[in-house]
Amino acid sequence: MSLNPDNIKGRVCVVTGSARSIGLEVATRYASYGAKVYMLDYSETVLESAKALREKGWDATGKILDVTDHDAVIACFDAIVAEAGPVYALVNCAGVGGSCAFENTTPDMWQRVFSINVFGTVNCIQGAIRSMREAREGKIINFSSKTGKTGSKLMTVYGSSKGAIVILTQSLAQEYAEHNVHVNCVCPDIIRGTGMWDGTVVQTYARDLGISEEEVNAMYEKKVPLGHFATMEDVTDVVAFLTISAEDCTGQSINITGGRFMH
Ligand SMILES: NC(=O)c1ccc[n+]([C@@H]2O[C@H](COP(=O)([O-])OP(=O)(O)OC[C@H]3O[C@@H](n4cnc5c(N)ncnc54)[C@H](O)[C@@H]3O)[C@@H](O)[C@H]2O)c1
Repeated sequence: MSLNPDNIKGRVCVVTGSARSIGLEVATRYASYGAKVYMLDYSETVLESAKALREKGWDATGKILDVTDHDAVIACFDAIVAEAGPVYALVNCAGVGGSCAFENTTPDMWQRVFSINVFGTVNCIQGAIRSMREAREGKIINFSSKTGKTGSKLMTVYGSSKGAIVILTQSLAQEYAEHNVHVNCVCPDIIRGTGMWDGTVVQTYARDLGISEEEVNAMYEKKVPLGHFATMEDVTDVVAFLTISAEDCTGQSINITGGRFMH
């Protein structure tokens, strides 16, 4: 299949965590390519985000869903398949983060982050996979992180959850290759303008390191060989490539780190 956005025209593409930030950017891209987009998020804002895409003349439906609720997730995907047909693409973007010194981490913290980042992803794949297998085609794109590929100070909880996503991706890619379902994940480094970095992590880093948020950003940006952070658009380009093309690519964990991490 060639690198042609029309490849997903009219196809069902589901994006979790798409009320805002990266998930919204991916949903917007899919909708602009003519896909039938379902936007799932536990924030009610997802309804407004989907409405804004419909106002551009695109096909987007917002649904309020907590990805940690297994039964609700399965019911939601069953309803999507009954209404629109098999899921072609599933992007598991819903996630939470935060930094914390290991000795201050609590069981609740570990539970919450793993419930959303790992079990939420598993639930949504369980919701979509049967329709993909029966249709003999599908693209699953999970969200890991640079922090899921290599350890980072103060990121034990988040990093461990994102490390699990890499192996989940590889295991499913092995299991579903014979059904023509491709499973890959993306591993971005810091993406500015997002709820996760600007709204959470940079603040805790600034507090813990005793410096300003701008100093934290400057310190991390200096570490990037290309000299600047990737953008939400850069991440969306990779997700779009994995969706509309990349027919020989499965089980991959693709770094989007400006060269900061290369394995
Ligand atoms: N922003 C970064 O720097 C960065 C870097 C690497 C990886 N990532 C990953 O990219 C993904 C998106 O991150 P972002 O920066 O856009 O985050 P964000 O916080 O801006 O958006 C995450 C979205 O997920 C939704 N969400 C959270 N828990 C949910 C749940 N239980 N059910 C349904 N929806 C839920 C939120 O409501 C929100 O709309 C995450 O998986 C994150 O780990 C982000």
